[in-house]
Amino acid sequence: MKVLITGACGFVGGALIRAISEAQCGWPLLGFDNLGRPGSELNRSELRHLGVKLVHGDLRCASDVDSLPAFDWVVDCAANPSVLAGCDGQSSSRQLMEHNLLGTINLLERCKTLKAGLVLLSTSRVYSIEPLANLAVTVLDRAFHPVLTESPPEGLSAEGIAEKFSTAAPVSLYGATKLAGEALALEYASAFDFPVWINRCGVMAGAGQFGRPDQGIFAYWINSHLRRRPLRYLGFDGQGHQVRDCLHPRDLVPLLQKQMDSADSAKPRLLNVSGGRESAMSLRQLTDWCDARFGATPVTGDPRPRPFDLPWVVLDSRQARSVWGWAPQTPMAEILDEIAVHAEKHPEWLGLSAPD
Ligand SMILES: NC(=O)c1ccc[n+]([C@@H]2O[C@H](COP(=O)([O-])OP(=O)(O)OC[C@H]3O[C@@H](n4cnc5c(N)ncnc54)[C@H](O)[C@@H]3O)[C@@H](O)[C@H]2O)c1
Repeated sequence: MKVLITGACGFVGGALIRAISEAQCGWPLLGFDNLGRPGSELNRSELRHLGVKLVHGDLRCASDVDSLPAFDWVVDCAANPSVLAGCDGQSSSRQLMEHNLLGTINLLERCKTLKAGLVLLSTSRVYSIEPLANLAVTVLDRAFHPVLTESPPEGLSAEGIAEKFSTAAPVSLYGATKLAGEALALEYASAFDFPVWINRCGVMAGAGQFGRPDQGIFAYWINSHLRRRPLRYLGFDGQGHQVRDCLHPRDLVPLLQKQMDSADSAKPRLLNVSGGRESAMSLRQLTDWCDARFGATPVTGDPRPRPFDLPWVVLDSRQARSVWGWAPQTPMAEILDEIAVHAEKHPEWLGLSAPD
């Protein structure tokens, strides 16, 4: 089974390739990347050593996608993954639509021709901002926790945000590209009879992530703390109580194996996949972890709100557990340790992944 990984030189694509190689899945791997993400070019030689054929090309360009060798499955990991993309002055809204949506359409057209399957890595950012921004929270142990009323919004529980939660706009331009990509993938699958699985992933983290304040927050925070770079708690009274869960991308591999082996299954096509409540932590708690490891460093507070920021984002992936028997394998402590070890070995990392 020949598998194409788009965004192969990015954090998730690269981590998946390493994990697939280690798991000896026996899939010949083809990687595709435009090397647009600063730092992504660093992954090229290692991936080639793993025996991956890497093609330099751009998903926005249909002829680049159409001239790729045939494949049986594609795992789409190529996108601009920042929630601020299109609104941050660094990329335009049109560029975001072209990378994230036109790119998906070009892949779907190729899947249609080849009858190849697609695994789309979607995001928790497809969920509606308003009810999440207005969620009542309380602070326990230096982290926000939701205060659930007797009738919470559909799909919300102490376990997190489930698939039934509203996806009504606004969800951010980034979230909208993913939501539209999901709808198109399901339509193409139905119209042209090829398999599609959609995995809505929560925050992913691990060594080698290109960290910036708007994307890759765990890597950004740990690298910055270690190098004594200025850190700020933004929004939410400047206290750093906002919470995210986190998943190591390698933990997706057992799920991908099952999904690719079950092309015809009647299982739900769309599922949340995340670290969940057990791997959730606030920025404040992350600072405590860094202080214990690297020595204390001050963090300033800046209560001005940030666009699209949310107090508590924990994805409920119990359905992935019941449908596929899938569960995250890498505990939070191991993910943080892995990032710290990588940061210690690579003093230049933040400059590479977020050049001025
Ligand atoms: N990292 C997370 O926390 C997270 C969470 C949920 C979903 N996702 C999704 O996972 C995927 C991978 O995210 P990541 O964190 O690895 O991002 P990343 O920026 O590290 O990697 C993306 C890779 O795609 C490449 N790329 C971007 N546009 C391209 C194009 N038009 N043609 C070819 N290559 C292109 C980039 O050069 C980069 O190497 C994205 O689809 C993202 O939406 C990520």
